[in-house]
Amino acid sequence: MKIFLDTANLDEIKELADLLDGVTTNPSLVAREEKPFRELLSEICRLVLGPVSAEVTALDVEGMVRQARELAKVADNVVIKIPMGLPGVRAVKRLAAEGIPTNVTLVFSPVQALWAAKAGATYVSPFVGRIDDRAGDGMELVAQILGIYENYGFDTQVIVASVRHVRHVVEAALLGAPIVTAPYRVVRQLFDHPLTDLGIERFLADWERAAG
Ligand code: G3P
Repeated sequence: MKIFLDTANLDEIKELADLLDGVTTNPSLVAREEKPFRELLSEICRLVLGPVSAEVTALDVEGMVRQARELAKVADNVVIKIPMGLPGVRAVKRLAAEGIPTNVTLVFSPVQALWAAKAGATYVSPFVGRIDDRAGDGMELVAQILGIYENYGFDTQVIVASVRHVRHVVEAALLGAPIVTAPYRVVRQLFDHPLTDLGIERFLADWERAAG
């Protein structure tokens, strides 16, 4: 399973860049940073070898396609994030024909994911955390999308997004989701366990006692 970092923060990306498979950003994450969008995107793309998702803000097809073409010029690894909906699906179809990779975002139903794949999206991002926040079952959606894509042999890859905690990552991996994108706090936690720390502490204490 590939692990993407869901952030636009350069310090967070720098700390994990050698291990990351990619980065996803969105307008809210970019707005937290004090840099012009294109400049920030260019720096992120230099730090990370894998795909870097950058979202359009236009709501109409022409505007989305225009913004996508401009963002795609920033670096070879830019992926254009397009919000789900009728204009978004049309924009994805146009961009796919031009060879511009896309990530359809804000996906909350299996049929939205079906349309994204039919239009030729490279990635689709179901937001599991926002579904769970409303007492839904985000992972059930992921399972449904994976099943549909398997049934029809779609190449579109599922990015499990809006991840809230480590358990989301475990569940995504158990479902065989190809990619998960998680905030820094969650990705950082994937390396740790209190019993690992305690084990290291005990091993070293025993070692030093024996040496003493
Ligand atoms: O990748 C999508 C993600 O950025 C949304 O996460 O935490 O705002 O629901 P969140």
